[in-house]
Amino acid sequence: MNTFNAPKGIPEYFPPESAGFLAVRDTLADAARRAGYGYIELPLFEDTALFARGVGESTDVVTKEMYTFADRGGRSVTLRPEGTAGVMRSVIEHGLDRSQLPVKLYYGGAFFRYERPQAGRYRQLQQVGVEAIGVDDPALDAEVIAIADEGYRRLGLSGHRIELTSLGDATCRPAYRAKLQEFLRGLPLDDETRRRVELNPLRVLDDKRPEVRELVADAPLMVDHLSTAAQEHYEQVKEHLADLGVAFTENPRMVRGLDYYTKTTFEFVHDGLGAQSGIGGGGRYDGLMAELGGQELSGIGFGLGVDRTLLACQVEGLAVGDQARCDVYCVPLGEAAKRRLVATAGALRAAGVRVDLSYGGKGLKGAMKAADRSGARFALVLGERDLEAGTAQLKELASGEQRAVGLDELVDRVVEAVR
Ligand code: HAM
Repeated sequence: MNTFNAPKGIPEYFPPESAGFLAVRDTLADAARRAGYGYIELPLFEDTALFARGVGESTDVVTKEMYTFADRGGRSVTLRPEGTAGVMRSVIEHGLDRSQLPVKLYYGGAFFRYERPQAGRYRQLQQVGVEAIGVDDPALDAEVIAIADEGYRRLGLSGHRIELTSLGDATCRPAYRAKLQEFLRGLPLDDETRRRVELNPLRVLDDKRPEVRELVADAPLMVDHLSTAAQEHYEQVKEHLADLGVAFTENPRMVRGLDYYTKTTFEFVHDGLGAQSGIGGGGRYDGLMAELGGQELSGIGFGLGVDRTLLACQVEGLAVGDQARCDVYCVPLGEAAKRRLVATAGALRAAGVRVDLSYGGKGLKGAMKAADRSGARFALVLGERDLEAGTAQLKELASGEQRAVGLDELVDRVVEAVR
């Protein structure tokens, strides 16, 4: 009979490596929680128009990568390609912005982009993200960047760097865009790139082809044409980052794949990952809320790629996550011993100890092999003779040290040993 394969381009995580995935996700989320962000759980799919309007009609994400389909009621829905638009929709819909500002939210989970799969680029990707809405304060921008940095550092990562720039605001960006277009229209570019000049000229600055890079080397840059307010904002973000001890480099040619960014924009890059080096990114999006029908409120946030961060940890040789499935592995030898240890395992779990048991009547040798594989620190062995003597054998697997423990105090002694 035919078997099935997972859809193309989707990473799956199973034990023991899945422990690393969980550790990355939880460590990054924990960094957000520690800065006062509250959890928001969002739909995996939304009205297609939300992403078209929110993410931008000219982006690759919207034009080429969305999983869009009609549901059985004939509505066009799309699997979420990113989190920010959905958070905005929810904040507006539920009036979360009518209480104290900023609204600080974090989220995590799967996002979907129909990209060409390769190492570190998947069609189902996992992010942890934050959004801080309603206060346009450079200190908040610095906080958002510092939280991500702190999360990566807690995992032990050291090979990442932060790239920072400002994409300007509504007063300076349109004039800059026109200036850039004027410059680009004077260059001998191919038809496809010319089309991009009209649609999304900033993208041309990010072209990877050496001949195009050479042509645009003298192109005007946004950072040299910032309004006074945007310039001041940018300077203050940099000051706050310096105060926080967060190192960054400026990349005035940074181009993000989503259209909503304004002012502070940043990426976390890990050079050990090859082409897919962006382990996280984000920025301000001051016009997005109004664009989606809400109040004129500012916002800033990030999305950190859990899959790529895990890859970065592996590249740096970091052992993240506890791969052990349990602390104690019970080895009953015989039916009477099994009845006793099944009950003991239950009591130990209730006391907070992670416990597994050798099922299926395995012999001592096979059961001890299973104990080793489980990653447990201790094996708790109970044979017929032990049972008669009223004791069990508690064996530390790494040292091989073994001692007898009275059955009447078994739970307490094992809890002590594990702690
Ligand atoms: P993004 O840069 O599109 O931003 O994605 C954030 C991160 O998700 C990337 O840096 C990368 O690590 C990971 N990622 C994206 N696409 C893939 C993929 N195909 N495979 C594996 N990992 C991927 C956003 O999504 C914005 N919503 C972030 C944000 C929040 N900006 C403001 N607030």
